[in-house]
Amino acid sequence: MSAPVAPDARKRVGVLISGRGSNLQSLLDAAADPAYPAEIALVISNKADAYGLVRAREAGVATAVVDHKAYAGRDAFDAAIDAALRDAGCELICLAGFMRIFTPGFVNRWPNRILNIHPSLLPSFTGLHVQRRAIEAGATIAGCTVHIVTPDLDAGPILAQAAVPVLADDTEASLSARILAQEHRLYPAALAWLASGRVRVDGNRATVDGATADGVLLSPQP
Ligand code: GRF
Repeated sequence: MSAPVAPDARKRVGVLISGRGSNLQSLLDAAADPAYPAEIALVISNKADAYGLVRAREAGVATAVVDHKAYAGRDAFDAAIDAALRDAGCELICLAGFMRIFTPGFVNRWPNRILNIHPSLLPSFTGLHVQRRAIEAGATIAGCTVHIVTPDLDAGPILAQAAVPVLADDTEASLSARILAQEHRLYPAALAWLASGRVRVDGNRATVDGATADGVLLSPQP
């Protein structure tokens, strides 16, 4: 990247995780560049043993554990997450393998400011085990999606997608790995667009100022 973004112009981002945190790592790596328009201000996990917390600490980023089991209900859990994010001055939220579903109240307090990454080409294959379900359904193209989070699960405006072929001998593990490699490219790009004010949302449609479409994927290749 070229000229550094002025530090106070970098959007402060909270990343929420539940596990290994490889997407978190891609965001940490991108944000290590002073020209990247976002900085990771806080990483929150609902699980104390999530490996992503180790990644955050190694990158010198503040961490917090907010264990859902310690709260009486979803409202109280969401309030604790909200307070931690606001205390850290976060302006945007990235969900990166965070395995809890927020209440509509929480989502509505962060309008167009929460991103999620999902390992399918939405709106196909919402929910869990989506790579296995893509293989079982006979799909020849799979991929990943970054979308804006709305109260409906895996249904908010789509910001960016990357496609990969599904090969005849794919297993859930091999397809997941191929998709994950694209997730690690897509999520930092999508966060940069949002953080630099290039995203417009109109109903359920998101567009990115200056974006071009110059690729087509056919699978299998003829
Ligand atoms: C990724 O496949 C992501 O798309 C999904 O959960 C997985 C998280 O992986 N939401 P990681 O923790 O980022 O490695």
